[in-house]
Amino acid sequence: MVDISTEFAGLKLRNPVMTAAGPTSRDGMTLLNAAAGGVGGLVAKTVSVRPADVPRPNMAALKEGRVGSRRGILNAELWSELSVEQWLEREYAIALSSGLPLIASVGYTPEEVSKLGPKLEKAGANAIEFSTHYVGGHVDIARALREVVEIPIFAKISPKVDVAAVAKSLEPYVDGIVGINTYGPCLRIDIETGKPMLGSSDGFGWMSGAALKPIAVRCIADIARAVKIPVIGVGGVTSGQDVIEFSMVGASAVEVCTAAILEGHTIYGKIASETADWLKSHGYDSIVDIRGVALRQMDKAVTLTPPPTVDLEKCTLCGLCPKSCVYGAITVDKEKNLFEIDKDKCQACGMCISVCPYHALSED
Ligand SMILES: Cc1cc2nc3c(=O)[nH]c(=O)nc-3n(C[C@H](O)[C@H](O)[C@H](O)COP(=O)(O)O)c2cc1C
Repeated sequence: MVDISTEFAGLKLRNPVMTAAGPTSRDGMTLLNAAAGGVGGLVAKTVSVRPADVPRPNMAALKEGRVGSRRGILNAELWSELSVEQWLEREYAIALSSGLPLIASVGYTPEEVSKLGPKLEKAGANAIEFSTHYVGGHVDIARALREVVEIPIFAKISPKVDVAAVAKSLEPYVDGIVGINTYGPCLRIDIETGKPMLGSSDGFGWMSGAALKPIAVRCIADIARAVKIPVIGVGGVTSGQDVIEFSMVGASAVEVCTAAILEGHTIYGKIASETADWLKSHGYDSIVDIRGVALRQMDKAVTLTPPPTVDLEKCTLCGLCPKSCVYGAITVDKEKNLFEIDKDKCQACGMCISVCPYHALSED
């Protein structure tokens, strides 16, 4: 059996997939549903001293390009619309009844987090994540929270800062870094009405989901190389392969928001079992075995001498690679059982390797 359990800052998770602060963690029952859907740990929606006054509409799907409609979403949601009193009296207890570790999320100023931190700890939260999305001032907030609670604290940082420098400055005060929050501001227009799709004052929103993942993976790699404390990846996780990618750049766990918005609460368990399947099929016993392996490769440049190597056992002649070979170097003919790369035309751009779903092409 492959071991996908993970432990960081004293929190033990049955699998590395957690909820993220958002509508899919908006109250106790939603978090209980996530537990039933197979999540490994719970992160609750961000609370603050007063409930948020959220614009409507506040979510719009990204359907950019011709293929797929699952690229992500823009959102103009704020923090929790529920009062912190309701969370303290009711919602955290419901979430805790799942038996899973619970990370409460809090914002935003040092004064606000010092007031709320001890209450979250008393309500049974196993750790606290603080969000710096709207305010910056990371170290002041971390210091304020550190002074008032004993439980582990995690700083969640946004992709718009120098993540490595911010993580380093936070390291003395926090037990882990969570990266990243949504990217933006961004804008989508409904071309049928000519109006913005979101109800925020300027129509702007923040991007999340699959489209965000390469930014998140880069941020986690930067953070993991800068600090020694645990790092938690969030941004565009939709599959077990994504968990593997985040683990390879050093993440001890991941959080999932948009995939659960688009696919529902069973996605957490699906992602966890895909993670185990990938590890098993690649001969690993435990997720810990791959943690950080890509960080050691990052200083060495990857090279490709044309043409790429083809494994004809794996190739299904599906025809995807010639479509995206802008140099016209690849010929595939299923009827003639033919696959050819013209090495004089091949420019070693690497595109075919990345589009092949069967890993039939490689650099070596
Ligand atoms: C609708 C929505 C609401 C969110 N609310 C919060 C929040 O209250 N606090 C927070 O720290 N992050 C919030 N986030 C950010 C997510 O927790 C997460 O960092 C981001 O969406 C990237 O992950 P994903 O691609 O899995 O969605 C929200 C995201 C979305 C889409």
